[in-house]
Amino acid sequence: PYSPKRFRAGDEAPVPRSLSTRAQLYERVFPEYKQPVEIGVFSLDSERAFFNDSRQLRYYVDPGKKPNFNLRDGYRDRFVKRDDGVKEKLDHVLRWIVTNRAKLCSTSSSSTSCTLGVDFVTWRGHLTKLLVTPYETQEGWLLAVSKFRGTLYMSEVETEAARVNRENRTERHEEMMYWGYKFEQYICADDVNGVPDRGGVVNTNEAFCTVVQTRLADHKLLFSGEVDCREKDPRAPPAPACYVELKTSAEICTPKQRSNFHRYKLLKWWAQSFLPGVPRIVAGFRDHDGVVVSVETIHVLKISQLIKKEHNCWKPTVCMNFCSDFLSFVKSVVKEDNPRLVYLFAWEPHRDVTYTIHRDSQYTFLPDWYLKEMAS
Ligand code: A3P
Ligand code: MG
Ligand code: MG
Repeated sequence: PYSPKRFRAGDEAPVPRSLSTRAQLYERVFPEYKQPVEIGVFSLDSERAFFNDSRQLRYYVDPGKKPNFNLRDGYRDRFVKRDDGVKEKLDHVLRWIVTNRAKLCSTSSSSTSCTLGVDFVTWRGHLTKLLVTPYETQEGWLLAVSKFRGTLYMSEVETEAARVNRENRTERHEEMMYWGYKFEQYICADDVNGVPDRGGVVNTNEAFCTVVQTRLADHKLLFSGEVDCREKDPRAPPAPACYVELKTSAEICTPKQRSNFHRYKLLKWWAQSFLPGVPRIVAGFRDHDGVVVSVETIHVLKISQLIKKEHNCWKPTVCMNFCSDFLSFVKSVVKEDNPRLVYLFAWEPHRDVTYTIHRDSQYTFLPDWYLKEMAS
């Protein structure tokens, strides 16, 4: 890798080499975050094939307060697991952009090529990782960034530590990862007037994704995120306000467990749903044997109130300001518009964010089909 230069020819401003992640530095007024607007949707079917429609969207069916769902049911015999060794990078988002380029792009008179008019294209999940960074002490991240026709594309790279963890999961952990999807099956119907099919197969290849546009401070963002289900009432507000995020968590029996839930779980839940403007989380609390003993609704905008009772807790403003400053850092570093160049931003807990630059490497992630489609 090339080592980052402090100054470049013809550039006035020095390019910063690193960015601090210390939470205190980001305690200032909440940055402007525009209400996210859904500009499209797509679906991935049971074989992970892309469709430019909502065929995988499911409908929320109220399970009641004490449902007794057994999340272990079907793990051995009715489970098709997505191969998480296959790295899809931004491909599905790029497929959505190419499919919808006519309505997305501004084409200049001198050429037919496409400029998106946004600063960043990425997955919601990557932004979630950025939001929680000032409070994360366990797992680092790697984000690859390339600039193409004025837009910065940001795609996660699996860290070595994450790969080792993924390849060495315990049987118990593997099964517990299934529980979240099984909970979804107990609560979701495929049709607006349907009922959940608890005897069906859980296939984690299937996904429904929203594509939203918004702005954080002066960063125009286009990102996509998977959505669990929507309210079935046709009078529900338009997307993303009708969407519901489903979550499971261990039941809370002690004040210590409640405090940990607020400090760690709610941070991740809030970040994930706040970003695309999903207003409601339905949480299933399960015992050690995977039986859901209670279900509660959590309103995303009320989470900041909930956690204020906690001493020394996380703050939404720190998350959003860090994200905004990171995106400014990326803009100041990634100057060359060239999809064959990857700027790899790296972070480990208790360290600053740093970067390296790679040309035509294993990190290059914008596929030729995308570059061609957007240039023609
Ligand atoms: P829970 O949400 O109940 O934890 P999501 O909640 O984002 O819709 O994801 C659905 C389920 O996928 C999760 O259910 C969990 O079971 C599994 N899952 C998601 N991200 C995961 C991760 N990083 N590691 C392990 N399991 C994960
Ligand atoms: Mg989901
Ligand atoms: Mg969920």
